[in-house]
Amino acid sequence: MLLLVAVGGWWVGARTAGPAYALGNGLALTPPMGWNDWNSYGCSVSDSLIRQTADKFVSSGLAAAGYQYVNIDDCWMQHSRDSSGNLQPDFAKFPSGISGVAAYVHSKGLKLGIYEDAGTATCAGYPGSLGHEAQDARLFASWGVDYLKYDNCNNAGQTSQQQYIARYTAMRDALAATGRPIVFSICEWGSSSPWTWGANVGNLWRTTGDISASFSSMLSIYRRNVTLAQYAGPGAWNDPDMLEVGRGMSTEEDRTEFSLWAEMAAPLLAGNNLVTASATTLSILGNKAVIAVDQDALGKQGREVSSSGGLHVLTKPLSNGDASVVLFNENSGAATISTTAAAVGKTGSATYTLNDLWTGAVSSTTGTISASVPGHGVVMYRVSGGSSSPSPSPSGSASPSPSPSSSGSGVPVACRVSDVISKWDTGLTANITITNSGSATVSGWSLAFTLPSGQTISNGWNATYSPSSGQVTATNVSYNGTLPPGGSTTIGFQATHTGNAAAPAAFALNGAPCAVS
Ligand code: GLA
Repeated sequence: MLLLVAVGGWWVGARTAGPAYALGNGLALTPPMGWNDWNSYGCSVSDSLIRQTADKFVSSGLAAAGYQYVNIDDCWMQHSRDSSGNLQPDFAKFPSGISGVAAYVHSKGLKLGIYEDAGTATCAGYPGSLGHEAQDARLFASWGVDYLKYDNCNNAGQTSQQQYIARYTAMRDALAATGRPIVFSICEWGSSSPWTWGANVGNLWRTTGDISASFSSMLSIYRRNVTLAQYAGPGAWNDPDMLEVGRGMSTEEDRTEFSLWAEMAAPLLAGNNLVTASATTLSILGNKAVIAVDQDALGKQGREVSSSGGLHVLTKPLSNGDASVVLFNENSGAATISTTAAAVGKTGSATYTLNDLWTGAVSSTTGTISASVPGHGVVMYRVSGGSSSPSPSPSGSASPSPSPSSSGSGVPVACRVSDVISKWDTGLTANITITNSGSATVSGWSLAFTLPSGQTISNGWNATYSPSSGQVTATNVSYNGTLPPGGSTTIGFQATHTGNAAAPAAFALNGAPCAVS
């Protein structure tokens, strides 16, 4: 039966049942692959950068390996709308407008992404789409845009979960009403647990604050994102932010990020300068065996089957019955990591074949899967043979396991924080990882700190912040209130500043002063 029904202003054909507000746009059935300019170029985005990147996707073979979306981030427009209320491209950066660059990208067989914000202004201060959703979506569609990253700055204080859903749903419906297939990327930094509502609204949702090009930033994002496997599936992905491959981590660490992101069925959006990328960087981004894990049609996000002392074992079931297994060593020295075929969901055979996805070596095992893994490194196997059990042994705990080396100080409540700040002219993003280095489990926490003068918090995630300047207290939200000894959580905020972009200081967890590392 063919029905036409109105769903939130969105006319959907041939839909007879299903959740009233299901996204169902048929896009991103495997995680999106592409590139985004922000991490390497900030506001220096331009027509020539986008064209050169598209050319490089083709000439390097990355397009053939699956990379498709060339995404423009913030700062592509003028500071005001035109007399009809339309957004205007910055013609100094984009002389032929967004439609011109879209046509070029399409001529290379690729797709174009753009950026806007579910608030009154973007993070860099350009006009936002709040209240202009229909007009802006129509404009994007008319330009030939294929992907929208929709950010959360300057959100007019609309920060209850209901208001998050309403702001993002308004753009979902506006995009649908254009009739053009446009991947919808929710970027609200994990603020309102978007994994619980994102599948009905967008194709992917950021789970954390911004990544930076360091192992510690990548690790803290991994720790949060890996716990959210149950929410991901075809058309609906957890987004741990862009790849930092080729942007300053070691080669080992770059391989680690690429492997972990693929194992977590994350979007693979490169963030480096592709035009001058080294052969090593291109070979990491272009590892087809690892990409095949990310893009596997079953669309399951990998889970941890064990995690102890910084040594992690992950498994991801694949559509042909194989399992992808990552042995990940977050510590700095080499370590042996071991698991078994049964633990990663493979049973029913006397021997299994292990394909090492980085070296290409093939070996076999009667059950034990074990390797020496370099510090900050991974060994990644595709395991075949036998049959796959429907659900591999579940992870012991949803949160990171205590690391013996970092706990047991003897003091019941002690803490360590590390904060990563990224700044621009008038704003900054801080991601703060809090580690319980005491001997007692903390149930319900508040982190006090001093915000440098001239800074005001405009948005926060994974905690509630009060007041917004001066002596601030961040209080846990429902899902991260328990910190076992050695356990950690990452919270973050964006702040405006007037010339003082220094890091927050004088941290104390439930009254106990924290070491800063
Ligand atoms: C936020 C987003 C980033 C980037 C910037 C642009 O911080 O999380 O990924 O889009 O805004 O201003």
